[in-house]
Amino acid sequence: MTANILDGKAIAAELRQTIKVKVAERVASGERAPGLAVVLVGQDPASEVYVRNKRRSCEEVGFYSESHDLSADASQESLLALIDTLNAKDEIDGILVQLPLPDHIDEEAVIERILPTKDVDGFHPYNVGRLTLKMPILRPCTPKGVMTMLKKTGQKLEGMDAVIIGQSNIVGRPMAMELLAERCTITICHSRTKDLEQKVRNADVVVAAVGRANFVPGEWIKKGAIVIDVGINRLDTGKLAGDVDFEGCKENASWITPVPGGVGPMTIATLLENTLQAAELHSEVAE
Ligand code: GUN
Repeated sequence: MTANILDGKAIAAELRQTIKVKVAERVASGERAPGLAVVLVGQDPASEVYVRNKRRSCEEVGFYSESHDLSADASQESLLALIDTLNAKDEIDGILVQLPLPDHIDEEAVIERILPTKDVDGFHPYNVGRLTLKMPILRPCTPKGVMTMLKKTGQKLEGMDAVIIGQSNIVGRPMAMELLAERCTITICHSRTKDLEQKVRNADVVVAAVGRANFVPGEWIKKGAIVIDVGINRLDTGKLAGDVDFEGCKENASWITPVPGGVGPMTIATLLENTLQAAELHSEVAE
């Protein structure tokens, strides 16, 4: 068997096209374009790449966007003050503060300061709670993008055993809530998990979000399993690699996401989807 490729690049392009059309319709009906503010603190090279891509995607779909670049030693107070300004600004529907933040800034305090209706990352405890209670509004972008991709496989997820490797607030935990809502049986694995191999061998769906290149070998994958690779790791050679051994896993999986061109483009397209959703929520309230 060799797996079907879940082409995130193509699915994301399709999603951006749908969003672009909806934005044009919105603007034609006299409403303003959705607005996203992207805040970057410091000069982490990976974050700079992500942020550049996010800003470029905003332009492509016709959003209004603002960039706020703060120096690495910006104070927490100045960041919170910026969030207050953006919270109060009518043109802004979504506020994204790129993580991780420098050590002297309390990430939780920053996330909690963003208005839940502008929290297009879905990281605010209000939105996390709603997702957990199966009454989501704004959902974290990477797991939501993965769900969009899983729907494209046409496979019925109900009753599947899903193993998630990684317990982060950005991916692992919300991914578990998404798959649970689709009635999968969930196992969340992390660095203290016993017998990870056995758990992965049993899984119908494997989501790898560990941040270690080629961490999951092909022989761990059950025949016919769906493999979702969230990892983006830079090798010494300069090449990008995912968290799973793509060539090996491809032999056993029924569907697999490549790196690059898999989950990465979906995260950004889903951010745009969330920003449009937030704009629609704000328009309803204003009516
Ligand atoms: N850092 C890595 N992924 C993300 C994300 O989805 N959103 C934000 N804000 N920061 C990130």
